[in-house]
Amino acid sequence: MTLDFDSEDLPTNTSRNEHFQNVVNRAVNRRGFLFKTGVGAAAVAFLSAGLAGCGGGGGDADPTPVPPAADPDLLGFTGIAIGTDDSVHVAPGYTASVLAPWGTPLFSTGAGSTWAGDASEDAAAQARQMGDNHDGIHYFALAGRSDEGLLVMNHEYTNPQYLFTDGVVNSLDDANKDLNAHGVSVVHIRRTAGVWNIVLDSTYNRRITGDTPMQLTGAAAGHALLQTTADATGTVALGTLNNCGNGFTPWGTYLTCEENFNQYFGTTNTAVPGMTRNANQLRYGLSSAGTSRKYEQYHDRFDWQKEPNEANRFGWIVEIDPFDPASMPKKRTSLGRIKHENAAYAIAADGRVVVYMGDDQANDYIYKFVTAGHYIEGDTANNRDLLDTGTLYVAKFNAGAVANDMMGTGEWMPMTTANPALAAYATQAEILVNTRLAADAMGATPMDRPEWVAVHPQTQEVYVTLTNNSGRSTTDDANPRAANVYGQIIRWRETGGDPTALTFEWDLFVLAGNPTIAQANPLNKGSANVTSDNTFNSPDGLGFDRDGRLWIQTDGNYSNTGNYANQGNNQMLCADPRTKEIRRFFVGPVECEVTGLTFTPDSKTLFINIQHPGEGGNSHWPEGGAALPRSATVVITKDDGGVIGT
Ligand code: FEO
Ligand code: CA
Ligand code: CA
Repeated sequence: MTLDFDSEDLPTNTSRNEHFQNVVNRAVNRRGFLFKTGVGAAAVAFLSAGLAGCGGGGGDADPTPVPPAADPDLLGFTGIAIGTDDSVHVAPGYTASVLAPWGTPLFSTGAGSTWAGDASEDAAAQARQMGDNHDGIHYFALAGRSDEGLLVMNHEYTNPQYLFTDGVVNSLDDANKDLNAHGVSVVHIRRTAGVWNIVLDSTYNRRITGDTPMQLTGAAAGHALLQTTADATGTVALGTLNNCGNGFTPWGTYLTCEENFNQYFGTTNTAVPGMTRNANQLRYGLSSAGTSRKYEQYHDRFDWQKEPNEANRFGWIVEIDPFDPASMPKKRTSLGRIKHENAAYAIAADGRVVVYMGDDQANDYIYKFVTAGHYIEGDTANNRDLLDTGTLYVAKFNAGAVANDMMGTGEWMPMTTANPALAAYATQAEILVNTRLAADAMGATPMDRPEWVAVHPQTQEVYVTLTNNSGRSTTDDANPRAANVYGQIIRWRETGGDPTALTFEWDLFVLAGNPTIAQANPLNKGSANVTSDNTFNSPDGLGFDRDGRLWIQTDGNYSNTGNYANQGNNQMLCADPRTKEIRRFFVGPVECEVTGLTFTPDSKTLFINIQHPGEGGNSHWPEGGAALPRSATVVITKDDGGVIGT
């Protein structure tokens, strides 16, 4: 197995600690500044902290200089205007090209070896072609190379209006085709003469679908709540669904995150007396009737009245070894069952691995998992099942010393049977299957829809997109707007720079907003780092590159009117975490979201995904003309061959 982490090496503990101390100093000094402003003025101070003052004196200036990253000027590109047309736009001096759209064959013979370009492909063909709705993505280098690797990506859900001639599932083959358009693709790619192509028929090429056998592992595996008619052992599930964001591990595996799994479970039978949804099914949002996908009409396992535990086998993080095509994916139950967005890791000084995770629902929570075991570089036997044993925590964000200043303190609360708040649960398995209900009982802080988590490669500061929450009525320091239509990014620093710490300090990195229109609530103009040049809504995808640039992707309202005027199509921006400056780098086509990002080890190729272009029927991207719109990967390179973002 060849890993790609060389370029992403964490700094030595010494430099990491120095860097971290500077980050902590900055937070402390900022708090000092805000103390003087008084409570009432605190939010105004947050809003008015000008970027012009970032060299010193501004409220968000770094009083203590942060050591320079590899490139002292992280944002080296010229920001671009919004886009509203049906094409992609990228910063001057960069080129974007399309790779591996939905339906692309991975094999040159047999089912699915050609693409008809319409809805005529059947389930067998779809099982061997790229799935739909590309989302989280990761490049695993082969032999450390930046011109050849395995691109692994999620296919979150499907667009039935393009998948089926009549736009709906109404046959067994339709249901199976839809299942096969879900899941994950492992694609061997190679760059030749500057162009990235799929290596057809590579033994690495693999489709994992909504029907692929996978092992349930960890503390809930085998529990009665995971047992079904087809699997009395509760240890082998079929398929992974609604794979949204992703993660990867230091030992070279891919993590795919099951998000809105509830939408696949309904019932064809509404007449069985006494069969009502239990507290778990209600909390996770299973339908009381049929689903729009109609799987329950063709496979009993998707009918919760017939198989009440099948849905319990979804909502997990799944670990996949892309280098072993014969390996069985593993659903790691110890990390909890939520609507998982993505997963981002940090490594503690003692080698324990910490995985940060968000639950994407309005007023749901942020979690972390701390392994009991210790990561040892290169020791596959030691590392392979680290994610099966450890402690799950849920976050509480406190206001801190000052209310309404958009910073505070926080704590991690252990989700174990030893916690008196969870006395109602007899076993860890029951806590895990009911993760949301258990967290409800612990007083975790309801957040504005936690999306992606990203860990700074040097400081290990953690950033999370809170995409929006139009239903919020009660505000708090971390979620400061009622009817939050724009979203924010929160970040925290674990106490002592230790990812396993039980306390942390947090602040808001950006309040997204729209300063180009009249706003009754001044907070809706956004924080000081939001301008008429970079205005955006609904931050979602998030990730750092090796140098510490923070890349922000949006999945928001693209109407370009009303609250969203002058924000255009969904986009990708880049931020300097030190100055908080944000610039627009990329804009997607009509009715898409921009999601997922990964770099080659040399950071000279960036892969991102365009999901559901034309979800409203108004795009023909990428082919144009009368072609069906297709989710696809976009490959971005710099024309001078340089590092992306410089
Ligand atoms: Fe699938 Fe929360 O985005
Ligand atoms: Ca506060
Ligand atoms: Ca997302």
